[in-house]
Amino acid sequence: MVRIHDALYMAALAYGSTSGAAQQDETINQPAFDQQLDEIPPELDEPGGAGSAHSIASDEVADVVNQQSDLKLVVISNRIAPFDPNKPQTGGLAAALEPVVERCGAVWVGSSEECGDGTERPLRLEPTGTGYVSRLDLPAADHPGYYRGFSNSTLWPALHSLPDRMSVSEDDYDSYQRTNGFIARAVFDARDRDVFWVHDYHLLPLGAQLNELGIERPAGFFLHTPWPAPDMVERVPNHLELMKSTLKYDLLGFQTNRDMNNYSAYLRTHFGLETRDGIVTTERGQTRLKKFPIGIDPRQFADYLAADLSPAEQKKVSSLLQNFEGSKFAIGVDRLDYTKGIDKRVEGFNQLLRTEPHSISLLQIAPSSRADVEQYQKYKEDVESAINRVNAEHGTDRWRPIHYKNDSFSQAALARLYRAAHVGVVTPLRDGMNLVAKEYVAAQDPKDPGVLVLSKFAGAAEDFNENEALLVDPNHPEEIAAAISKASHMPLEERVTRWRSMMDKIESYTIHDWAADYVSELDKSRVTVPADQFHHLGLGWTNEAQMPLYQNYATALTAFNDVDPRDTALKEAAYANVESSSEALATPLMHTQNRLWVLPAPDSFA
Ligand code: F6P
Repeated sequence: MVRIHDALYMAALAYGSTSGAAQQDETINQPAFDQQLDEIPPELDEPGGAGSAHSIASDEVADVVNQQSDLKLVVISNRIAPFDPNKPQTGGLAAALEPVVERCGAVWVGSSEECGDGTERPLRLEPTGTGYVSRLDLPAADHPGYYRGFSNSTLWPALHSLPDRMSVSEDDYDSYQRTNGFIARAVFDARDRDVFWVHDYHLLPLGAQLNELGIERPAGFFLHTPWPAPDMVERVPNHLELMKSTLKYDLLGFQTNRDMNNYSAYLRTHFGLETRDGIVTTERGQTRLKKFPIGIDPRQFADYLAADLSPAEQKKVSSLLQNFEGSKFAIGVDRLDYTKGIDKRVEGFNQLLRTEPHSISLLQIAPSSRADVEQYQKYKEDVESAINRVNAEHGTDRWRPIHYKNDSFSQAALARLYRAAHVGVVTPLRDGMNLVAKEYVAAQDPKDPGVLVLSKFAGAAEDFNENEALLVDPNHPEEIAAAISKASHMPLEERVTRWRSMMDKIESYTIHDWAADYVSELDKSRVTVPADQFHHLGLGWTNEAQMPLYQNYATALTAFNDVDPRDTALKEAAYANVESSSEALATPLMHTQNRLWVLPAPDSFA
C-alpha cells in the first residue's frame, strides 16, 4: 500500500532532505483550540453527558451521523440553537441542526446574538452533547448592515422572489462582506478539522473567505431557503461577485430540484458555465450541486409528545386547547414573516366562514421575528388587523374564529397542539422546505390523523404530493378556504392513507440521514481525479483543486532529472525548485491522504 505523500517524499528523498515539507504555521491558535477540546471533561464528551440538552438513548447513538466517527466537522451558521428543550427554536435551521451537532461531535460556530467591538479572540467552546458550540460576538459596527440590511432586507426577499419587499444599499453589502471575513478569521482556529459546513444566505461568501485564508479542507454550503430564478438574483447588488464566491465551495446543497435548477440557470446566463451531472467546473476546481431535502427527527417528536411540560407551559397549552373543546380547529405555526402568507391564510379563513359559518376555528401561532426590520413591523400590523376584522365579522360572545398567539412555544408544547388540531395549515408564499409541515404530520395520532394543507411553493411540496397533502396556491385565499373545508370533512380512511404515506417518507429520510448524506458527499467532494488517470504522473492520487500544484512539482522534478549531475550549480538550482514546489503541494495533500485514503500500490493499477 502506498500513500501519496510517501511517494512524493520518496522521489525527493532520493536526492536530499525535504526541509519543512510538513511544516505547520505555528503562529496561530490551532494548538490552543485543540487543547480546549482535550480539556473538556470526559463525561461531557459523551452522548447524554451533562452538557446534553436532551438525553440520548444508547441505541440511537449508532446512527448514521456517528458512523462518520473520525470525521471532524465544523458547522457555521448565523443563528445557533439554544440547546434547551424549554426554550423555543427560532426557525428551521436551528431546529434542524441542534440534534445533528449534539450527536456527531461537531463544532458549531455562529452568532452569540450579542455584538462586540470587533476584537478577534480565540474560539471559545462550550460542550453540548458530543458536540461543541462557539458563540461569536459579531462586530457591532457592521451588524445592522450585515443582518438587518443585506441578509434580511436584500437577500431574504430576493431569495423568496418578492422584489417589492427588497431594499438595497452598497454599505450593507460591505458590512455583510466584512462580517463574513470576521467569522472566517474566527473559524481559522479550527482549520485542521476535516470539513466545513456553512449554512444559509447570511454566509454565502464565507467559503471564499476561508479559501483566501488558506484553509484547504472541503467546504460545503447548504441553503435553507429557496433559490430564485436569475432575474431575482440580478436585483441583488454585486450579484456577480457574490455568485462567483459561491463557486469556491466544493458542494452546494439545495432543498429542491427547482432551487438547484434556478442556481444553474444563473451560472449559464451570467458566466456561460454549464452544470454537467451536477458538477460545475471552474478554474478553482469543481463545485458539485445536489439536492438534500431537509427532514426532522420523528422519534424525537414522539418523545416530545410524551415529555412533561414545565408547569407554565402546561397551563398555556391547556388553556388554549380549552377554547376548542368539542369543536374542530386548524393550526398555523410560523415566524411572523411576510413570506409565510399568514395574511392570505386569514383571508382564506374569512372566505370559508362566510360559506360555512362557525364550522372550524384557527389557532395561529406567530412569534415576532426580525422585529427591527421595517417590513416585518408593517407585516405584523397587517396580520393583526386582518385577524381582528375576521373575528369582528364572524365571532360571537361565546366563539372566537381565530386565536392568535404572538409568543413562542417549545417544541414539546407545539407537538401537543399539532396533535390536537384537525388541520395543519402551512401556506407560505415560498419556503425552502418548511419543517412545520413535517412536524405536524409526525405529531399525528396514527389512528385518527389530521390533514395537511400545504402551499405548492413550499419545498415540502416536492416531498409530499397531491395524494398526500392538499396542495394549494398560497396567493389564492379561495383555494385555501376550499382545502381547509375539504380537510375538515375528510373521511377517516382517506386521512389515514394520506398520513401513512407522508409519515413513511418522513421516517425514511430523517434529519440524521440528511446530515449524514450531506457530510459524506462533502467529504468525498474534493477527490475528483481517479487514481488510474493520475497514476501516469507516477505519484498516486490527488484532487483537481491541487492539480496545478502537482503539475508544478512534476515539472520541477523532470527538469531536475534532466540536468547533468556534473553541473553542480544547475543541479542545486533545479533541486531548490523541486523543494519549493514540493512544499507548496505538501500541506494540502498531507491532510487528505493521512485521513482518508490508503491506496493500492502502483503495480495494482497496471
Ligand atoms: O430557516 C431560514 C432562516 O432564515 C434561518 O437561517 C434563520 O436562522 C431562521 O430562518 C430564523 O431567522 P432569524 O435567525 O433571522 O431569526
